[in-house]
Amino acid sequence: MNNIIKAQVAARANQTLRTACITGTGSYVPEKILTNADLEKMVETSNEWIVERTGIEERHIAAPDQPTSALGAKAAQRALEAAGVAPEDVDMIITATITPDMVFPNTACLIQETIGAKNAFCFDLEAACSGFLYSLDVAAQFIATGRADTVLVIGAEKISSITDWSDRSMCVLFGDAAGAAVVQHRPGANGLLASVMRSDGGLSDLLKLPAGGSRMPASEETVKAGLHYMKMNGREVFKHAVNSMVGAARDAMESCGLTIDDIKLVIPHQANMRIVNAIAGRLGGAPEQYFINLHKYGNTSAASVIVALDEAARAGRLDKGDLVMLIAFGGGFVWGAGILEWWTP
Ligand code: UT7
Repeated sequence: MNNIIKAQVAARANQTLRTACITGTGSYVPEKILTNADLEKMVETSNEWIVERTGIEERHIAAPDQPTSALGAKAAQRALEAAGVAPEDVDMIITATITPDMVFPNTACLIQETIGAKNAFCFDLEAACSGFLYSLDVAAQFIATGRADTVLVIGAEKISSITDWSDRSMCVLFGDAAGAAVVQHRPGANGLLASVMRSDGGLSDLLKLPAGGSRMPASEETVKAGLHYMKMNGREVFKHAVNSMVGAARDAMESCGLTIDDIKLVIPHQANMRIVNAIAGRLGGAPEQYFINLHKYGNTSAASVIVALDEAARAGRLDKGDLVMLIAFGGGFVWGAGILEWWTP
């Protein structure tokens, strides 16, 4: 266990650092639904294979005129409404995404303009499917030091824009969505109790989008070779995802002296039902402690965990004081786990 994490947990518990609570959440999924039956007409696959190997039944796909910022802005507006916060009162916007509208300006700036958060400073954070979790911890650090009071943390993805629709091993897995959380200090409330963030760049080749960056700028050849689409070694990623998420979750619980029985709800990254089952098998706890919505949305990368958290909250699965554990894993590799004491007014 990392001593820095332990020190942060202790400082938050002693209230020597300002704690950071989620005070409102929101999410948005585009209207268009792509079912497994639709995919059967596009590539050589079957509903049986997809359901058995992944648990995914359908996913939502953004319209051509709906970039990531449009999805993120809708989720952000819903989160602000839930928190009762006016857009002008937001100090900082972080957007976690691997599908920014453009390389620059950053997607958070584009969302700022749409929602009218004119007093915020804005940046994107790229940590693939762990992006929301990483961004939540960054927000908590700014709040801890008093550098920001109200932070909007958004996970938004138009993964359909980087999906090879002729590759059956990839196109059945992903979907588009956005989620957002308002993060603020609430005196006396514990908020984010623990956060474990880990990375291993040595495994970056296993999941990546090869072209379009400075290493391999876009050219006729890169387009012809399909190098602007995500590439993944599914089996290897699967193995690492399970081991890494279990390790991070155990470290997060240990850092606060908790066991799985203390956690009301676990929200794992929604990539594959078999991954969730493997994690649950090793962490223990009852099946109803694990929140699942991947059958409806597929893997929505940085949006995955926050969309699930928003759905769980709106479905009444969390009461004030409940502990919720978020766990994520993505390309980089980047992974982590966070434990949050749920706050409501
Ligand atoms: O968000 C970042 C984290 N990402 C993940 O967590 C994804 C991790 N990986 C996975 O979820 C799984 O590895 C997959 C769902 C991607 C694949 O499942 P798998 O059980 O590992 O299958 P596989 O890749 O080993 O492929 C098994 C077979 C292959 O055929 P052969 O070689 O055995 O003849 C594939 O060609 O399934 C075939 N296959 C398909 N068949 C029908 C691959 N995709 C499909 C498909 N429909 N869509």
